Amino acid sequence: MNVLVAYATRHGSTAGIAERIAAALGTAGVSAEAHPVSEVADLTPYDAFVIGGAAYMYHWLKDATAFVKRHRAELAERPVWLFSSGPLGTDRVDKEGRDVLETGQPKEFEELKGLLHPRGEQVFFGAWDPSAPPVGIGERLLRHMPASKEALPAGDFRDWPAIEAWAAEIAEALKSGEAPVN
Ligand SMILES: Cc1cc2nc3c(=O)[nH]c(=O)nc-3n(C[C@H](O)[C@H](O)[C@H](O)COP(=O)(O)O)c2cc1C
Repeated sequence: MNVLVAYATRHGSTAGIAERIAAALGTAGVSAEAHPVSEVADLTPYDAFVIGGAAYMYHWLKDATAFVKRHRAELAERPVWLFSSGPLGTDRVDKEGRDVLETGQPKEFEELKGLLHPRGEQVFFGAWDPSAPPVGIGERLLRHMPASKEALPAGDFRDWPAIEAWAAEIAEALKSGEAPVN
C-alpha cells in the first residue's frame, strides 16, 4: 500500500497539512508520501490518494482541481480522500450559527464528489500571515483594506489533532480494506 498525499498551496500551510497527513499515515503503518500536485505526473506507483488544496475566495486552488480532472479516470478507480484548508480564526460557527468547516467547503467539491466518489472529504482550519510576500494583485490590494483584518484573522489555526485523527481514520480504512474500489 503506497499512498500519495498530493497538495496545492499558495503560502505553504496546506503543504504542512499534507506532510502531517503523510507522516501520520506512516505512523499508522501505511506508507505515504506528500508531493505538490505540480510535481506528480504518474499515478501508477500509488494505491490510494489524499488530495488537498487551500481555498481562496470560496474556490479550491486551480492546480488541485486541474490535477483531479487530469487524472480523473485513474483516481475514480482507487480510494480517494479530499481535503481543503481555509477557515481562519478560532470560531467554529459563523454569525449565522453555521459550522465554518461545512461552509468552508470550496465550490468545486460538489462536482468533484460526483466525479470521484471520494471516501471522505474534510475541511481544516488554515493559516494566514499577512506579512508574507503577497501573491497576486488581490492579496496586494487586501493589505490596504482595513476590513480584511476582521475577515482574515492572522495566525496559524491548523488543528493538528484533527488532522492526525483524520489521517488515522484513513489508515484504518485502508488497512481493513474498508475502502472498496468505486
Ligand atoms: C485573499 C484570501 C482569500 C481567502 N479566501 C478563503 C475562502 O474563501 N475560504 C476559506 O476557507 N479560506 C480562505 N482564505 C484562507 C486561506 O485558505 C488560508 O489562509 C489557507 O490556510 C492558505 O493556505 P496556503 O498557505 O496553503 O496557501 C483566504 C485567504 C486569503 C489570503
